[in-house]
Amino acid sequence: MGTVVNDNKKTRPNASELLHSKLGVLELKTPLTVASGTFDLESLEFFDPACLGAFVCKTITRQPKKGNPPPRLYETEAGLLNSIGLQNPGLDAFIADKLPVYRESLHIPLIVSISGSSIAEFAEMIESLEACAGISGYEINVSCPNVENEGIAFGISSEIVYKLVLQLSSLTQRELCIKLSPNVSNIAEIAQAAEAGKASSIALINSVYGMAIDYRTGKSRIKKGIAGYTGIGIKPVALALTHKVAQAVDIPILAMGGIYTWQDALEFIWAGASAIALGTANFVNPLAAPELIMGLGEFLLQQELSISEIRGKVKI
Ligand SMILES: Cc1cc2nc3c(=O)[nH]c(=O)nc-3n(C[C@H](O)[C@H](O)[C@H](O)COP(=O)(O)O)c2cc1C
Repeated sequence: MGTVVNDNKKTRPNASELLHSKLGVLELKTPLTVASGTFDLESLEFFDPACLGAFVCKTITRQPKKGNPPPRLYETEAGLLNSIGLQNPGLDAFIADKLPVYRESLHIPLIVSISGSSIAEFAEMIESLEACAGISGYEINVSCPNVENEGIAFGISSEIVYKLVLQLSSLTQRELCIKLSPNVSNIAEIAQAAEAGKASSIALINSVYGMAIDYRTGKSRIKKGIAGYTGIGIKPVALALTHKVAQAVDIPILAMGGIYTWQDALEFIWAGASAIALGTANFVNPLAAPELIMGLGEFLLQQELSISEIRGKVKI
């Protein structure tokens, strides 16, 4: 594999063949996406979105959300704390104002991230979005640590995840990716519940709980106290959970958590990811995405390996 046989002559594969990947029902030109909430269209002023296999937008809720009061961002020694609280314009404004712009600007699959406060609300949102063209899939956010009595309550119970996913999978043929929280005791069990409910892929991880305190005054750096921790410091956690979930399910994994470079991306693919997302890295280096794809493509080409050949083949 990794080479193309033509007229009995072996020709070297090109980088785009090697970078091809699949996420559930989606064919991805590259395995790279952007993590929900960390990237919007203005970032595309820096590079051509064609280096991305898909685009995942900020999580949308049924009603608009103002988010949490500031301060709600704090840079730690090794990563970022955020307590944005799913600030978003709500489903109707998303469909009326944002979706047409995404459709116009992106010529790659669009995955819409949604969160709801009940199974019925999630289902109602999917039904509305099913009526809209230009959407390739959904990322179901059952894992935001910054909202009370929403998202997270779903993500910690495998029984509820099963019921939710079963209902949503009956409503769509589009990609149905369930985004899991690392803040649970057994993530593999929850991933299996999503698979049993007919999810077509799993995304992981969302933010880890985190906190920072000013040592002089004792004041929390984040208004709400506990926040979501992301970026470089969570990479070992995300890698371990990717490996654990890859052992437990057959559906593909979209992995994220501390990925900054092509070397990081490769580690996640060895651990079992079919696709990877850049999150906090986008704030540090707006060119992280094209640089990652360039480096990954060169490595695969040099080694004559495709994504599918190394996925999940970690040597232990
Ligand atoms: C500022 C900020 C906002 C985020 N907003 C969302 C969101 O709306 N929905 C979601 O599912 N994840 C959200 N996340 C989590 C990311 O999508 C991702 O799961 C997490 O940051 C881990 O990846 P990273 O370490 O590469 O950043 C947010 C993360 C950050 C830093």
